[in-house]
Amino acid sequence: MPTTTWNRHHILSLADFTPTEYNAILQTTASFQEVLSRRTKKVPTLQGQVVANLFFEPSTRTRSSFELAAKRLSADTLNFASATSSMTKGETILDTAKTYLAMGCDIMVIRHTCAGVPNAIATEMDRLGERVSVLNAGDGQHEHPSQALLDLFTICSIIDPVNPRLELLKDKKIAIVGDILHSRVARSNIWSLTASGAELHLAAPPTLLPKLFADYVNDSGVSELNGKRKLFIHWRLEDALRDADFVMTLRLQKERMTAHLLPSLREYHQMFGITRAKLDWCKPNVKVLHPGPVNRGVEISSDLMDDPEFSLIQSQVTSGVAVRMALLYLIGSGKAV
Ligand code: CP
Repeated sequence: MPTTTWNRHHILSLADFTPTEYNAILQTTASFQEVLSRRTKKVPTLQGQVVANLFFEPSTRTRSSFELAAKRLSADTLNFASATSSMTKGETILDTAKTYLAMGCDIMVIRHTCAGVPNAIATEMDRLGERVSVLNAGDGQHEHPSQALLDLFTICSIIDPVNPRLELLKDKKIAIVGDILHSRVARSNIWSLTASGAELHLAAPPTLLPKLFADYVNDSGVSELNGKRKLFIHWRLEDALRDADFVMTLRLQKERMTAHLLPSLREYHQMFGITRAKLDWCKPNVKVLHPGPVNRGVEISSDLMDDPEFSLIQSQVTSGVAVRMALLYLIGSGKAV
């Protein structure tokens, strides 16, 4: 493992992450990728620690890859799903978290439909003086840090598989296309990708990309990189895709739409769906990402999604295990076992 100084106790948002922290995660992930290529894919790093996956909202990739990551690190894992829990009998979120604390949980991985729930649990653990770490696995429309970090690793390791690092993205053009308004993935990726020095171009119909996104990073007042980030918004897809090195397309989050924001899915696909033909606007070796789950034929054509020449979608899922091992290792290895 690389020798890394890591001081962060919870991972709730990428808003204040530094380049040093991004590079620590990228290097640690590369080391765990090597572990995962061995015949025995397990290390004793978190032996004796308990990792609880508290998922109050459905998930396939995030929950399974956090569980697998914890098991590869030899931690004991607990899986919670609200539909089969005592929350159906009226137990509160904080009492649920305290129940897992009482069982000796060291790390809580939390997903919730409401923004701020991981933060509230982390605040309560800190107030109680407990050393439990909280990892945000996606909260409402707020953030999805581990997804953005696996996206970052996937992109960097395509450029340099041996030494993936943040600086590789300097001056690359990256487009994020789709339902930005409802996307926690976009909100985390905006922090990480602009921290790298890449030019980040957001594209969507105006109903899914309010103008205020142009000020998202520069008005926050929390980043040491303020004023150096390059973020642009477009309501015409071609402007975002022209000469792009990477295109990330996002799922239309119909479950979060409270109004009729689009004339039809067919028109959306015609205007903003990513197809092979539209990739002609990009650099010839452009790569396409999608965090999943995918609405095939809506935000991306089915044939492009399955085309290994362009699509990094399966690599993103694979990277997710090593990235989550790195996150659990970095916040878990400082704990007494
Ligand atoms: N990308 C993502 O968060 O997928 P899941 O909802 O399947 O975890």
